Amino acid sequence: MQIAVISGSPKGEMSVTLQYVRFLGEAFPDHTFTVVHAGRDIRALEREEEAWERLLATVAESDSVLWATPVYVMLVPAQLKRFIEQVGERDASDAFAGKYAAVLTTSIRYFDHTAHAYLHGICDDLSMRYVGSCSAHMEDLQSEAFQEQFVLFFTDFLEAIAERRLIQRAYPPLAAPSAPSSPAAPPAAVDTRGKRVIILHDADPGSGLAAMVDGLAACYGGFARVADIRDAGMKGGCLGCCRCALDNTCVYDDGYRAFWEEYVVPADILVMAGAVRDRFLSAAWKQFFDRSFSNGHVPAFAGKQVAYLVDGPLGHLTTLREVLTGLAVAEGANLAGIVSSEPGGDTGAALHALAERSVRLSVWGYVAPPTFPAVAGHKIFRDEIWGGMRAIFKADDRYYRQHGLYDFPTRDYRKRIITRATSFAMAIPAVRRDVVKNMPAYMIRPLERAIASSRVLAERKAGR
Ligand SMILES: Cc1cc2nc3c(=O)[nH]c(=O)nc-3n(C[C@H](O)[C@H](O)[C@H](O)COP(=O)(O)O)c2cc1C
Repeated sequence: MQIAVISGSPKGEMSVTLQYVRFLGEAFPDHTFTVVHAGRDIRALEREEEAWERLLATVAESDSVLWATPVYVMLVPAQLKRFIEQVGERDASDAFAGKYAAVLTTSIRYFDHTAHAYLHGICDDLSMRYVGSCSAHMEDLQSEAFQEQFVLFFTDFLEAIAERRLIQRAYPPLAAPSAPSSPAAPPAAVDTRGKRVIILHDADPGSGLAAMVDGLAACYGGFARVADIRDAGMKGGCLGCCRCALDNTCVYDDGYRAFWEEYVVPADILVMAGAVRDRFLSAAWKQFFDRSFSNGHVPAFAGKQVAYLVDGPLGHLTTLREVLTGLAVAEGANLAGIVSSEPGGDTGAALHALAERSVRLSVWGYVAPPTFPAVAGHKIFRDEIWGGMRAIFKADDRYYRQHGLYDFPTRDYRKRIITRATSFAMAIPAVRRDVVKNMPAYMIRPLERAIASSRVLAERKAGR
Protein backbone atom coordinates (compact mmCIF):
# COMPACT_ATOMS: atom_id res chain seq x y z
CA MET A 1 0.00 0.00 0.00
CA GLN A 2 1.21 3.53 -0.83
CA ILE A 3 0.68 5.91 2.07
CA ALA A 4 1.18 9.63 1.59
CA VAL A 5 2.20 11.17 4.90
CA ILE A 6 1.31 14.85 5.07
CA SER A 7 3.63 16.21 7.71
CA GLY A 8 2.48 19.40 9.40
CA SER A 9 5.51 20.10 11.53
CA PRO A 10 7.67 23.06 10.60
CA LYS A 11 10.61 21.04 11.95
CA GLY A 12 10.69 18.75 8.91
CA GLU A 13 12.73 15.60 9.48
CA MET A 14 13.43 16.69 13.07
CA SER A 15 9.73 16.46 13.88
CA VAL A 16 8.81 14.35 16.90
CA THR A 17 5.66 13.25 15.06
CA LEU A 18 7.69 11.97 12.15
CA GLN A 19 9.59 9.65 14.49
CA TYR A 20 6.23 7.98 15.11
CA VAL A 21 5.83 7.63 11.36
CA ARG A 22 9.32 6.11 11.15
CA PHE A 23 8.22 3.60 13.78
CA LEU A 24 5.25 2.68 11.56
CA GLY A 25 7.58 2.34 8.57
CA GLU A 26 9.65 -0.24 10.49
CA ALA A 27 6.59 -2.00 11.89
CA PHE A 28 4.87 -2.27 8.49
CA PRO A 29 7.69 -2.97 6.01
CA ASP A 30 5.30 -4.17 3.28
CA HIS A 31 3.88 -0.69 2.87
CA THR A 32 5.47 2.43 1.42
CA PHE A 33 5.36 5.69 3.34
CA THR A 34 6.12 8.82 1.34
CA VAL A 35 6.44 11.96 3.44
CA VAL A 36 5.53 15.36 2.06
CA HIS A 37 6.52 18.31 4.21
CA ALA A 38 3.46 20.54 3.95
CA GLY A 39 4.39 22.39 7.17
CA ARG A 40 8.11 22.85 6.63
CA ASP A 41 7.85 23.70 2.92
CA ILE A 42 4.75 25.88 2.95
CA ARG A 43 6.55 28.92 1.53
CA ALA A 44 7.96 26.97 -1.42
CA LEU A 45 4.62 25.26 -1.97
CA GLU A 46 2.89 28.62 -2.17
CA ARG A 47 5.41 30.08 -4.59
CA GLU A 48 6.69 27.22 -6.71
CA GLU A 49 4.16 25.53 -8.94
CA GLU A 50 6.47 22.60 -9.52
CA ALA A 51 6.81 21.86 -5.80
CA TRP A 52 3.04 22.11 -5.41
CA GLU A 53 2.35 19.78 -8.34
CA ARG A 54 4.91 17.28 -7.07
CA LEU A 55 3.20 17.16 -3.70
CA LEU A 56 -0.22 16.75 -5.25
CA ALA A 57 1.06 13.94 -7.46
CA THR A 58 2.35 12.09 -4.38
CA VAL A 59 -1.08 12.36 -2.78
CA ALA A 60 -2.92 11.44 -5.98
CA GLU A 61 -0.77 8.34 -6.54
CA SER A 62 -1.19 7.08 -2.97
CA ASP A 63 -3.84 4.69 -1.68
CA SER A 64 -4.34 6.68 1.49
CA VAL A 65 -3.26 9.72 3.45
CA LEU A 66 -1.86 9.94 6.95
CA TRP A 67 -1.94 13.45 8.37
CA ALA A 68 0.98 13.51 10.80
CA THR A 69 1.19 16.73 12.73
CA PRO A 70 1.93 18.29 16.07
CA VAL A 71 -0.86 20.06 17.91
CA TYR A 72 -0.17 23.78 17.93
CA VAL A 73 -2.39 26.04 20.02
CA MET A 74 -5.35 23.67 20.06
CA LEU A 75 -5.22 22.97 16.34
CA VAL A 76 -2.62 22.24 13.67
CA PRO A 77 0.34 24.56 13.01
CA ALA A 78 -0.42 27.67 10.97
CA GLN A 79 1.77 26.27 8.19
CA LEU A 80 -0.43 23.19 7.80
CA LYS A 81 -3.53 25.39 8.08
CA ARG A 82 -2.16 27.46 5.21
CA PHE A 83 -1.55 24.29 3.20
CA ILE A 84 -5.18 23.26 3.69
CA GLU A 85 -6.32 26.73 2.59
CA GLN A 86 -4.16 26.36 -0.50
CA VAL A 87 -5.85 23.08 -1.41
CA GLY A 88 -9.15 25.00 -1.47
CA GLU A 89 -7.83 28.13 -3.16
CA ARG A 90 -6.00 26.18 -5.87
CA ASP A 91 -8.90 23.84 -6.44
CA ALA A 92 -6.78 20.80 -5.68
CA SER A 93 -9.28 18.69 -3.76
CA ASP A 94 -9.45 16.06 -6.55
CA ALA A 95 -6.09 14.67 -5.43
CA PHE A 96 -7.60 13.90 -2.02
CA ALA A 97 -11.15 12.86 -2.90
CA GLY A 98 -12.08 9.26 -2.11
CA LYS A 99 -8.83 8.49 -0.26
CA TYR A 100 -8.87 6.82 3.11
CA ALA A 101 -7.35 9.08 5.74
CA ALA A 102 -6.13 8.89 9.31
CA VAL A 103 -4.69 11.45 11.69
CA LEU A 104 -1.66 11.10 13.93
CA THR A 105 -0.75 13.88 16.34
CA THR A 106 1.88 14.32 18.99
CA SER A 107 1.42 16.85 21.76
CA ILE A 108 1.09 17.02 25.52
CA ARG A 109 -2.59 16.22 24.92
CA TYR A 110 -3.89 19.68 25.61
CA PHE A 111 -6.75 20.29 23.16
CA ASP A 112 -5.57 17.45 20.94
CA HIS A 113 -9.23 16.55 20.39
CA THR A 114 -9.96 19.88 18.70
CA ALA A 115 -7.03 19.38 16.32
CA HIS A 116 -8.43 15.96 15.47
CA ALA A 117 -11.96 17.27 15.00
CA TYR A 118 -10.66 20.02 12.72
CA LEU A 119 -8.76 17.57 10.50
CA HIS A 120 -11.74 15.21 10.51
CA GLY A 121 -13.92 18.04 9.19
CA ILE A 122 -11.30 18.89 6.56
CA CYS A 123 -11.18 15.25 5.43
CA ASP A 124 -14.97 15.28 5.11
CA ASP A 125 -14.85 18.51 3.10
CA LEU A 126 -12.23 16.97 0.78
CA SER A 127 -14.48 13.89 0.32
CA MET A 128 -11.89 11.70 1.99
CA ARG A 129 -12.80 8.64 4.07
CA TYR A 130 -11.67 9.47 7.60
CA VAL A 131 -10.97 6.26 9.52
CA GLY A 132 -9.71 7.56 12.84
CA SER A 133 -7.03 9.36 14.76
CA CYS A 134 -4.30 8.60 17.23
CA SER A 135 -3.22 11.17 19.79
CA ALA A 136 0.24 10.38 21.11
CA HIS A 137 1.92 12.20 23.92
CA MET A 138 5.29 13.32 22.59
CA GLU A 139 7.05 10.77 24.81
CA ASP A 140 4.64 7.85 24.32
CA LEU A 141 6.72 6.05 21.73
CA GLN A 142 9.10 4.96 24.48
CA SER A 143 6.36 2.88 26.09
CA GLU A 144 5.75 -0.65 24.91
CA ALA A 145 2.09 -0.45 25.92
CA PHE A 146 1.65 2.54 23.60
CA GLN A 147 3.56 0.85 20.79
CA GLU A 148 1.17 -2.09 20.90
CA GLN A 149 -1.89 0.18 20.69
CA PHE A 150 -0.24 2.23 17.97
CA VAL A 151 0.30 -0.87 15.82
CA LEU A 152 -3.38 -1.76 16.31
CA PHE A 153 -4.44 1.74 15.31
CA PHE A 154 -2.53 1.49 12.08
CA THR A 155 -3.63 -2.09 11.42
CA ASP A 156 -7.24 -0.92 11.64
CA PHE A 157 -6.45 1.86 9.17
CA LEU A 158 -4.89 -0.59 6.70
CA GLU A 159 -7.83 -2.97 7.06
CA ALA A 160 -10.30 -0.15 6.42
CA ILE A 161 -8.50 0.58 3.15
CA ALA A 162 -8.20 -3.08 2.15
CA GLU A 163 -11.85 -3.89 2.79
CA ARG A 164 -13.08 -0.57 1.36
CA ARG A 165 -14.88 0.07 4.62
CA LEU A 166 -17.94 2.27 4.46
CA ILE A 167 -17.25 5.60 6.16
CA GLN A 168 -19.99 8.07 7.05
CA ARG A 169 -19.45 11.78 6.83
CA ALA A 170 -19.40 13.26 10.36
CA TYR A 171 -19.35 17.01 9.62
CA PRO A 172 -22.01 18.34 7.24
CA PRO A 173 -20.91 20.78 4.53
CA LEU A 174 -20.89 24.39 5.62
CA ALA A 175 -23.51 26.89 4.60
CA ALA A 176 -22.49 29.59 2.16
CA PRO A 177 -21.35 32.83 3.83
CA SER A 178 -23.88 35.61 4.25
CA ALA A 179 -23.42 39.34 4.66
CA PRO A 180 -23.66 40.58 8.25
CA SER A 181 -26.84 42.55 8.92
CA SER A 182 -26.68 46.14 10.14
CA PRO A 183 -29.04 47.81 12.59
CA ALA A 184 -31.76 50.05 11.10
CA ALA A 185 -30.35 53.04 12.99
CA PRO A 186 -26.90 53.08 14.60
CA PRO A 187 -27.38 52.84 18.39
CA ALA A 188 -25.88 55.38 20.75
CA ALA A 189 -22.18 54.85 21.46
CA VAL A 190 -21.16 53.08 24.64
CA ASP A 191 -19.12 55.04 27.19
CA THR A 192 -15.86 53.07 27.52
CA ARG A 193 -15.34 54.55 31.02
CA GLY A 194 -11.60 54.80 30.58
CA LYS A 195 -11.19 51.15 29.61
CA ARG A 196 -8.67 50.46 26.86
CA VAL A 197 -10.43 48.70 24.01
CA ILE A 198 -8.39 47.03 21.29
CA ILE A 199 -9.85 45.35 18.21
CA LEU A 200 -7.46 43.11 16.29
CA HIS A 201 -8.52 41.79 12.89
CA ASP A 202 -7.38 40.57 9.51
CA ALA A 203 -10.22 42.06 7.50
CA ASP A 204 -9.85 42.98 3.86
CA PRO A 205 -11.37 46.36 2.97
CA GLY A 206 -15.02 46.08 1.93
CA SER A 207 -15.40 42.57 3.41
CA GLY A 208 -18.17 41.44 5.74
CA LEU A 209 -15.60 41.23 8.52
CA ALA A 210 -14.47 44.82 7.88
CA ALA A 211 -18.12 45.90 8.31
CA MET A 212 -18.32 44.06 11.63
CA VAL A 213 -15.07 45.61 12.87
CA ASP A 214 -16.18 49.10 11.85
CA GLY A 215 -19.59 48.49 13.43
CA LEU A 216 -18.08 47.45 16.74
CA ALA A 217 -15.55 50.29 16.73
CA ALA A 218 -18.48 52.70 16.23
CA CYS A 219 -20.25 51.14 19.21
CA TYR A 220 -17.29 52.13 21.36
CA GLY A 221 -17.74 55.69 20.11
CA GLY A 222 -14.39 55.86 18.34
CA PHE A 223 -12.48 55.07 21.55
CA ALA A 224 -11.35 51.63 20.40
CA ARG A 225 -7.94 51.16 18.84
CA VAL A 226 -8.18 49.00 15.75
CA ALA A 227 -5.22 47.12 14.28
CA ASP A 228 -4.67 44.58 11.52
CA ILE A 229 -2.60 41.62 12.77
CA ARG A 230 -0.93 41.47 9.35
CA ASP A 231 0.71 44.79 10.25
CA ALA A 232 2.67 43.01 12.99
CA GLY A 233 5.21 42.21 10.29
CA MET A 234 5.53 38.54 11.20
CA LYS A 235 8.29 36.98 9.13
CA GLY A 236 6.80 33.52 9.50
CA GLY A 237 5.05 30.95 11.63
CA CYS A 238 6.34 29.44 14.85
CA LEU A 239 9.20 27.08 13.99
CA GLY A 240 8.73 24.91 17.06
CA CYS A 241 12.38 25.42 17.96
CA CYS A 242 11.50 26.21 21.62
CA ARG A 243 14.38 28.68 21.92
CA CYS A 244 11.87 30.92 23.70
CA ALA A 245 11.73 28.43 26.56
CA LEU A 246 14.59 30.00 28.50
CA ASP A 247 13.49 33.63 28.63
CA ASN A 248 10.45 34.03 26.36
CA THR A 249 12.56 35.52 23.57
CA CYS A 250 11.52 34.36 20.11
CA VAL A 251 14.10 33.41 17.51
CA TYR A 252 12.40 35.73 15.00
CA ASP A 253 13.56 39.32 14.97
CA ASP A 254 10.38 40.85 13.61
CA GLY A 255 7.49 43.07 14.66
CA TYR A 256 5.44 40.47 16.52
CA ARG A 257 6.68 41.20 20.04
CA ALA A 258 6.33 44.98 19.65
CA PHE A 259 2.82 44.52 18.23
CA TRP A 260 1.88 42.27 21.15
CA GLU A 261 3.26 44.79 23.65
CA GLU A 262 1.48 47.66 21.97
CA TYR A 263 -1.94 46.12 21.46
CA VAL A 264 -2.47 42.98 23.51
CA VAL A 265 -0.70 43.76 26.78
CA PRO A 266 -2.41 47.09 27.58
CA ALA A 267 -5.92 46.00 26.51
CA ASP A 268 -8.62 45.86 29.15
CA ILE A 269 -11.01 44.68 26.45
CA LEU A 270 -9.46 42.65 23.65
CA VAL A 271 -11.59 41.84 20.63
CA MET A 272 -10.26 39.45 18.00
CA ALA A 273 -12.06 39.49 14.67
CA GLY A 274 -11.65 36.97 11.88
CA ALA A 275 -13.48 35.37 8.97
CA VAL A 276 -13.99 31.65 8.66
CA ARG A 277 -11.54 30.01 6.26
CA ASP A 278 -12.30 26.34 5.78
CA ARG A 279 -13.22 25.33 9.37
CA PHE A 280 -11.21 27.84 11.39
CA LEU A 281 -10.12 31.46 11.15
CA SER A 282 -7.41 32.33 8.64
CA ALA A 283 -3.87 30.95 8.68
CA ALA A 284 -2.76 34.51 9.50
CA TRP A 285 -4.76 34.36 12.74
CA LYS A 286 -3.44 30.88 13.41
CA GLN A 287 0.09 32.17 12.95
CA PHE A 288 -0.64 35.01 15.37
CA PHE A 289 -1.86 32.49 17.97
CA ASP A 290 1.07 30.11 17.38
CA ARG A 291 3.62 32.87 17.76
CA SER A 292 2.20 33.67 21.21
CA PHE A 293 3.87 30.40 22.29
CA SER A 294 6.90 32.56 23.09
CA ASN A 295 4.93 33.87 26.11
CA GLY A 296 5.30 30.41 27.62
CA HIS A 297 2.57 28.51 29.45
CA VAL A 298 1.33 31.47 31.46
CA PRO A 299 -2.11 33.12 31.40
CA ALA A 300 -1.37 35.89 28.90
CA PHE A 301 -4.88 37.44 29.02
CA ALA A 302 -5.27 37.38 32.81
CA GLY A 303 -8.04 39.70 34.00
CA LYS A 304 -8.97 40.97 30.54
CA GLN A 305 -12.33 40.88 28.82
CA VAL A 306 -11.91 38.93 25.60
CA ALA A 307 -14.44 38.87 22.77
CA TYR A 308 -14.52 37.60 19.21
CA LEU A 309 -16.16 38.64 15.98
CA VAL A 310 -16.54 35.78 13.54
CA ASP A 311 -17.65 36.35 9.99
CA GLY A 312 -18.99 32.97 8.96
CA PRO A 313 -21.15 30.01 9.95
CA LEU A 314 -19.97 29.70 13.55
CA GLY A 315 -23.13 27.83 14.56
CA HIS A 316 -21.94 24.91 12.40
CA LEU A 317 -18.37 25.05 13.69
CA THR A 318 -18.42 23.73 17.23
CA THR A 319 -14.68 23.10 17.15
CA LEU A 320 -13.96 26.70 16.24
CA ARG A 321 -16.20 27.90 19.07
CA GLU A 322 -14.52 25.50 21.47
CA VAL A 323 -11.04 26.70 20.54
CA LEU A 324 -11.94 30.39 20.75
CA THR A 325 -13.63 29.89 24.11
CA GLY A 326 -10.78 27.72 25.35
CA LEU A 327 -8.19 30.27 24.27
CA ALA A 328 -9.86 33.04 26.23
CA VAL A 329 -10.57 31.18 29.45
CA ALA A 330 -7.35 29.18 29.56
CA GLU A 331 -5.41 32.42 29.25
CA GLY A 332 -7.18 33.80 32.32
CA ALA A 333 -9.64 36.12 30.59
CA ASN A 334 -13.36 36.51 30.88
CA LEU A 335 -15.13 35.66 27.63
CA ALA A 336 -17.35 38.70 27.18
CA GLY A 337 -19.00 37.28 24.07
CA ILE A 338 -18.77 36.08 20.50
CA VAL A 339 -20.69 37.79 17.72
CA SER A 340 -21.01 36.03 14.40
CA SER A 341 -22.52 37.08 11.10
CA GLU A 342 -24.94 34.21 10.81
CA PRO A 343 -28.22 34.68 9.02
CA GLY A 344 -31.16 35.45 11.24
CA GLY A 345 -29.11 37.22 13.90
CA ASP A 346 -29.19 41.00 14.15
CA THR A 347 -25.42 41.48 13.99
CA GLY A 348 -25.59 45.24 14.57
CA ALA A 349 -27.60 44.91 17.77
CA ALA A 350 -25.37 42.04 18.93
CA LEU A 351 -22.28 44.20 18.44
CA HIS A 352 -23.79 46.95 20.53
CA ALA A 353 -24.76 44.52 23.28
CA LEU A 354 -21.23 43.14 23.25
CA ALA A 355 -19.70 46.61 23.55
CA GLU A 356 -21.95 47.43 26.50
CA ARG A 357 -21.37 44.15 28.29
CA SER A 358 -17.60 44.16 27.80
CA VAL A 359 -17.29 47.63 29.35
CA ARG A 360 -19.61 46.79 32.23
CA LEU A 361 -17.78 43.57 33.08
CA SER A 362 -14.41 45.25 32.74
CA VAL A 363 -15.44 48.00 35.16
CA TRP A 364 -16.65 45.36 37.62
CA GLY A 365 -13.44 43.35 37.16
CA TYR A 366 -15.54 40.25 36.52
CA VAL A 367 -13.82 37.07 35.44
CA ALA A 368 -16.07 34.00 35.34
CA PRO A 369 -14.88 31.02 37.40
CA PRO A 370 -12.73 28.75 35.27
CA THR A 371 -14.35 25.95 33.34
CA PHE A 372 -12.85 22.72 32.14
CA PRO A 373 -10.35 24.12 29.58
CA ALA A 374 -8.75 26.42 32.14
CA VAL A 375 -8.83 23.94 35.01
CA ALA A 376 -7.56 21.04 32.91
CA GLY A 377 -5.05 23.24 31.14
CA HIS A 378 -3.60 24.43 34.43
CA LYS A 379 -3.20 20.89 35.70
CA ILE A 380 -1.66 19.61 32.48
CA PHE A 381 0.84 22.47 32.24
CA ARG A 382 1.63 22.37 35.95
CA ASP A 383 2.37 18.65 35.83
CA GLU A 384 4.29 18.80 32.54
CA ILE A 385 6.41 21.76 33.62
CA TRP A 386 7.13 20.35 37.05
CA GLY A 387 7.54 16.84 35.67
CA GLY A 388 10.37 17.66 33.29
CA MET A 389 9.81 20.67 31.04
CA ARG A 390 11.14 23.07 33.69
CA ALA A 391 14.68 21.92 32.94
CA ILE A 392 14.35 23.83 29.63
CA PHE A 393 11.27 26.04 30.12
CA LYS A 394 13.01 28.18 32.72
CA ALA A 395 10.74 31.19 32.25
CA ASP A 396 7.64 29.06 32.91
CA ASP A 397 9.26 27.52 35.98
CA ARG A 398 10.05 30.96 37.41
CA TYR A 399 6.50 32.17 36.74
CA TYR A 400 4.92 29.05 38.25
CA ARG A 401 7.01 29.39 41.41
CA GLN A 402 6.37 33.13 41.80
CA HIS A 403 2.61 32.80 41.28
CA GLY A 404 2.03 29.70 43.39
CA LEU A 405 0.97 27.68 40.37
CA TYR A 406 2.68 24.50 41.56
CA ASP A 407 -0.43 23.95 43.65
CA PHE A 408 -0.39 20.17 43.88
CA PRO A 409 -3.00 18.76 46.24
CA THR A 410 -0.23 16.98 48.12
CA ARG A 411 0.88 20.39 49.43
CA ASP A 412 -2.40 21.04 51.25
CA TYR A 413 -1.33 19.55 54.59
CA ARG A 414 -4.49 20.56 56.48
CA LYS A 415 -6.65 18.78 53.94
CA ARG A 416 -4.39 15.75 54.00
CA ILE A 417 -4.69 15.45 57.77
CA ILE A 418 -8.49 15.83 57.65
CA THR A 419 -8.74 13.28 54.85
CA ARG A 420 -6.58 10.80 56.72
CA ALA A 421 -8.56 11.31 59.97
CA THR A 422 -11.88 10.91 58.13
CA SER A 423 -10.56 7.83 56.46
CA PHE A 424 -9.66 6.27 59.82
CA ALA A 425 -13.02 7.29 61.32
CA MET A 426 -14.79 5.58 58.42
CA ALA A 427 -13.39 2.27 59.65
CA ILE A 428 -15.74 2.55 62.66
CA PRO A 429 -19.06 0.93 61.63
CA ALA A 430 -21.26 3.45 63.48
CA VAL A 431 -19.49 6.41 61.85
CA ARG A 432 -19.66 4.78 58.45
CA ARG A 433 -23.39 4.16 58.83
CA ASP A 434 -23.97 7.76 59.87
CA VAL A 435 -21.93 9.22 57.00
CA VAL A 436 -23.61 7.04 54.40
CA LYS A 437 -27.06 7.91 55.76
CA ASN A 438 -26.40 11.64 56.02
CA MET A 439 -24.08 12.15 53.03
CA PRO A 440 -26.10 15.00 51.43
CA ALA A 441 -26.15 16.89 54.77
CA TYR A 442 -22.39 16.48 55.20
CA MET A 443 -21.83 17.77 51.67
CA ILE A 444 -23.71 21.02 52.19
CA ARG A 445 -22.68 21.71 55.81
CA PRO A 446 -19.37 23.45 54.93
CA LEU A 447 -21.27 25.84 52.65
CA GLU A 448 -23.61 27.11 55.34
CA ARG A 449 -21.24 29.73 56.68
CA ALA A 450 -20.86 31.22 53.19
CA ILE A 451 -24.62 31.41 52.76
CA ALA A 452 -24.95 33.15 56.12
CA SER A 453 -22.53 35.85 55.01
CA SER A 454 -24.09 36.37 51.57
CA ARG A 455 -26.31 39.30 52.54
CA VAL A 456 -23.38 41.20 54.06
CA LEU A 457 -21.37 40.66 50.88
CA ALA A 458 -24.21 41.76 48.59
CA GLU A 459 -24.75 44.91 50.70
CA ARG A 460 -21.04 45.68 50.66
CA LYS A 461 -20.97 45.27 46.83
CA ALA A 462 -24.00 47.51 46.49
CA GLY A 463 -22.18 50.14 48.61
CA ARG A 464 -24.76 50.07 51.40
C1 LIG B 1 3.71 26.81 19.02
C2 LIG B 1 3.42 25.56 19.76
C3 LIG B 1 2.14 25.34 20.21
C4 LIG B 1 1.83 24.16 20.88
N1 LIG B 1 0.54 23.98 21.28
C5 LIG B 1 0.20 22.81 21.89
C6 LIG B 1 -1.15 22.59 22.28
O1 LIG B 1 -2.05 23.41 22.09
N2 LIG B 1 -1.43 21.41 22.89
C7 LIG B 1 -0.47 20.47 23.16
O2 LIG B 1 -0.79 19.45 23.73
N3 LIG B 1 0.82 20.66 22.76
C8 LIG B 1 1.18 21.80 22.13
N4 LIG B 1 2.47 21.99 21.73
C9 LIG B 1 3.45 20.90 21.90
C10 LIG B 1 3.67 20.11 20.59
O3 LIG B 1 2.44 19.63 20.11
C11 LIG B 1 4.61 18.91 20.80
O4 LIG B 1 5.83 19.37 21.26
C12 LIG B 1 4.76 18.09 19.55
O5 LIG B 1 5.20 16.79 19.91
C13 LIG B 1 5.78 18.65 18.57
O6 LIG B 1 5.80 17.82 17.43
P1 LIG B 1 6.78 18.02 16.22
O7 LIG B 1 8.19 17.83 16.73
O8 LIG B 1 6.39 16.94 15.25
O9 LIG B 1 6.61 19.37 15.64
C14 LIG B 1 2.82 23.17 21.09
C15 LIG B 1 4.13 23.41 20.67
C16 LIG B 1 4.42 24.59 20.01
C17 LIG B 1 5.84 24.84 19.54
